[in-house]
Amino acid sequence: MSQRIDIAGLIASARANARESYVGHMNPAFAKLLDVIGFDRTYVRGEGQYLWDAQDNRVLDCLAGYGALALGRGHPVVVDAIAQCLALAPPAWVRWELNPLAAEAARRLTLQCGGSVERVFFTNSGTEAVEAAIKFARQHTGRPGLLAWSDSFHGLTYGALSINGNEDLRHGFGPLLPGATIVEFGDLETLERLLSSQTVAAMVVEPVQGKTLRSLAPGMLREVHTLCKQYGTLLIADEIQTGAARTGAFLAVHHEGVEPEIVVMAKALSGGFVPVGAVLVRSDIWDSTFSSMDRSVVHSSTFHEGPLAMIALIATLEVIAEDRLAARAAELGELLMRRLRQECAGIACVREIRGKGLMIGVDIDSARVPSFAKIPLLGRFTEPMIGQAAIMELLQAHSILAQTTGARRPLIKFMPPLVVNESDVEAIAIATAASCRALGAGRFYGAMRSVAGNILRSGLGLSTT
Ligand SMILES: Cc1ncc(COP(=O)(O)O)c(C=O)c1O
Repeated sequence: MSQRIDIAGLIASARANARESYVGHMNPAFAKLLDVIGFDRTYVRGEGQYLWDAQDNRVLDCLAGYGALALGRGHPVVVDAIAQCLALAPPAWVRWELNPLAAEAARRLTLQCGGSVERVFFTNSGTEAVEAAIKFARQHTGRPGLLAWSDSFHGLTYGALSINGNEDLRHGFGPLLPGATIVEFGDLETLERLLSSQTVAAMVVEPVQGKTLRSLAPGMLREVHTLCKQYGTLLIADEIQTGAARTGAFLAVHHEGVEPEIVVMAKALSGGFVPVGAVLVRSDIWDSTFSSMDRSVVHSSTFHEGPLAMIALIATLEVIAEDRLAARAAELGELLMRRLRQECAGIACVREIRGKGLMIGVDIDSARVPSFAKIPLLGRFTEPMIGQAAIMELLQAHSILAQTTGARRPLIKFMPPLVVNESDVEAIAIATAASCRALGAGRFYGAMRSVAGNILRSGLGLSTT
């Protein structure tokens, strides 16, 4: 007879064996990368906006699980809701029923989103939501074409990858979806030329780009939408990263008063526990796909609408509304932007600080950073390593976990949980200025030397392509 599993013991032994198991059975290249950049810590506890490593150092988590942890780790309302759901165990995945929890989650989500997107298809991830949105758009318009901006990121499955604005991520995986075209960010002239062919099903847009933190100038998204409508193309707002209050409104398109025909969401909807994504669709577009009884399950997925996911989503929506997290993201985002600009004023290598709400990027001018050429091993890694050097400094010297986004230019990105406080914001501003000052003065050589040493030790084939 199977016995109760000692989970605490299992976690402890998994931690002790993590390196061997990970390298043997998962991704050795990633393990090497973490070693090289000095990110080889083990985290043993997380609460709210903080993580604690095995030495009990507290780290402010501004990566927030790529944005999934908007409520912070272990939000008590979500934990309690999930625990209640596990105890009550409503039957999961009956499939041939009108799933009551999914219907309730859909009702509540569309209420929060407002506008004309009133039908919801739930998914298990962001990229699946993008795939479904592409199918809805192609079916409704009968057209193959898809457009997205350069530097966009919409996920890594084939449809989403086809409209990924980063050539490195597409490289070697072709052929991708026919009809997918990348337009230089903000180039409305080219956009209109492509739209006027009347072969484009959808234009997919992140209101704030996750890789570059750029948004179109005020009013321009509305212009894009007008052009799309003029030529019969649907606008798909990819709110997977910006949605659920991150930018200071429930949806970032709300800032612009734009009502897309389709909205995709994921990440923060999960409350940090159970993956959940959603495609919100105008009903006439929905009806083109699910057009009759025999086509009523023409798009589906075994694990979508699971009870834990639906409960996590409902609890997350409650917390966002009750704790006024959109307003909080707006207020603290403004404070962070102001303090970063004040602290970084006069630091030559800081080109621009931009973003919206609690999604902020510090754009580094690599021309103003002394060359790495003096460290022979790193000469050719200079450009991609500049952002990484700042990130390493932030973690090692200031206990702040952030990311560099892999965009074409080095950029430090902060996307903390929306529950951060004023003193966290102050710590980010001070630490960023110190790290950027160190970058500009060439004082990052210490960090870079340790990278060089790690590369030598690991014999890593670190490719810049
Ligand atoms: C804007 C955007 N779209 C789509 C995705 C893909 O989501 P997922 O990683 O859940 O597949 C991401 C993930 O980073 C994203 O930021």
